Amino acid sequence: MDLKKLIREIPDFPQPGILFRDITTLLANPEGLKYVLNTLTRQCEALRPDYVVGIESRGFMFGMPLAYTLGIGFAPVRKPGKLPAAVHCAEYELEYGTDRLEVHRDAFPAGSRIVIVDDLIATGGTAAATANLIEKTGCTVAGFAFVVELTDLGGRQKLPDAPIVTLVQY
Ligand code: PRP
Ligand code: ADE
Repeated sequence: MDLKKLIREIPDFPQPGILFRDITTLLANPEGLKYVLNTLTRQCEALRPDYVVGIESRGFMFGMPLAYTLGIGFAPVRKPGKLPAAVHCAEYELEYGTDRLEVHRDAFPAGSRIVIVDDLIATGGTAAATANLIEKTGCTVAGFAFVVELTDLGGRQKLPDAPIVTLVQY
């Protein structure tokens, strides 16, 4: 399936010079959605994960159904101040300044194998910070899964050593 036909391109969003890869048009296409979830499921099964982590907010759109098809649990990684119980925090660099991600300290039993899911990897900062969070919970990153990879930004070089699944590359 040609996923590039289903992912809309919006120039200059959210700021001038950025070509935004919009996955809402993929989500709205039943065959495309089925293909993406079936392919992610097959490739992630091989990683033998115990839990899926989805990164707020577009990571939830693929991570949660993937946890369902894999028959395992899901935990959200969220932006600051959203999770109600005790959290671990990880900071990451933005173009200007830093941002923070959080996960519940008791999201998974120590030693669990976690697959980290997001819609897209660009610079890799978000996924690398999430891997850092998983390590703080005493768990292992079994792998990463992204629908879209922006290869020019070299995001995969920022990630710890673990398998990386991506379905479409630009
Ligand atoms: C986007 C995307 C990834 C991240 C990738 O999320 O969904 O999470 O950026 O960028 P990076 O590899 O350079 O870190 P965004 O922060 O726009 O939030 P959203 O999912 O809530 O739209
Ligand atoms: N997140 C970071 N860069 C992006 C892009 N070019 N399109 C969609 N989401 C993004």
